[in-house]
Amino acid sequence: MLGCDNGHPFNVAKEGYVNLLLSHQRKSKNPGDDADMVMARRRFFDSGAYDQLTALVVQAPVFQRADVSVLDCGCGEGHLLGALSEARPGFFCGVDISKKAVQVAAKRHKKATWIVANGMRKLPIADAGLDVILSVLAPRAAEEFDRVLKPEGELLIGVPGPNHLIELRKQLQFTSGDFAEKADAAAEKLAPAFIEIDRASLCHEQTLNQEQIADLIRMTPLFWRSGDEAKAAAMKLERLTLTISFTLLTLKKA
Ligand SMILES: C[S@@+](CC[C@H](N)C(=O)[O-])C[C@H]1O[C@@H](n2cnc3c(N)ncnc32)[C@H](O)[C@@H]1O
Repeated sequence: MLGCDNGHPFNVAKEGYVNLLLSHQRKSKNPGDDADMVMARRRFFDSGAYDQLTALVVQAPVFQRADVSVLDCGCGEGHLLGALSEARPGFFCGVDISKKAVQVAAKRHKKATWIVANGMRKLPIADAGLDVILSVLAPRAAEEFDRVLKPEGELLIGVPGPNHLIELRKQLQFTSGDFAEKADAAAEKLAPAFIEIDRASLCHEQTLNQEQIADLIRMTPLFWRSGDEAKAAAMKLERLTLTISFTLLTLKKA
């Protein structure tokens, strides 16, 4: 059992994670990605479809240093932080507002610490406590990131790159631009607290099978933003060749 300064008790769940989310810190009973989205993301990563994204993150220069302390904010089912924690020694902490996501992350990846918490509120991390914050396809709060990062710390932000999944979005009759501006917009939002120091990208074509296509639709906002007919038709496709495109920004404190 853990406790906070205000006297709230927090149990360590049998999977090994801690739920620090108090009822007034969430807008719904089960906030964040639901169980279907979490398990679709787990299967999609397990299928190898995002291996190049994993490599882009794990091979980032900051992770080549010895014994870094890392927070993955909006860690989802834990694939990226899990891969990092298994690749090298260090302190690895994953935070997500989705209890299901943290449950499955904690069950699989025992070398990291997993916490259910709202990453847009006060993070359960001491001031200047971390070398690295990772945030991939997740919401971000510049002020809190600034508080918990060490002065020389680095912030890694993963966003969809130009034309990411454009073929699937067309298939779903979904018009959301070509994502060319996402990285610039993310860097602008983190200023003036953070300054961009590096930008790495990946962009390649990949052919997905039917299960992968269905899981990709289930695990993204494409699922609830597209029409039922278009969605059902896309889920029946046996194969689809897609553009996979990500940009990983590295920022330091201003
Ligand atoms: C698109 S998923 C990305 C997950 C993971 N970073 C990855 O790349 O596989 C976004 C994640 O952000 C989480 N999330 C949404 N709002 C959040 C918040 N306020 N605090 C923490 N996590 C949040 C969701 O539950 C979900 O797991």
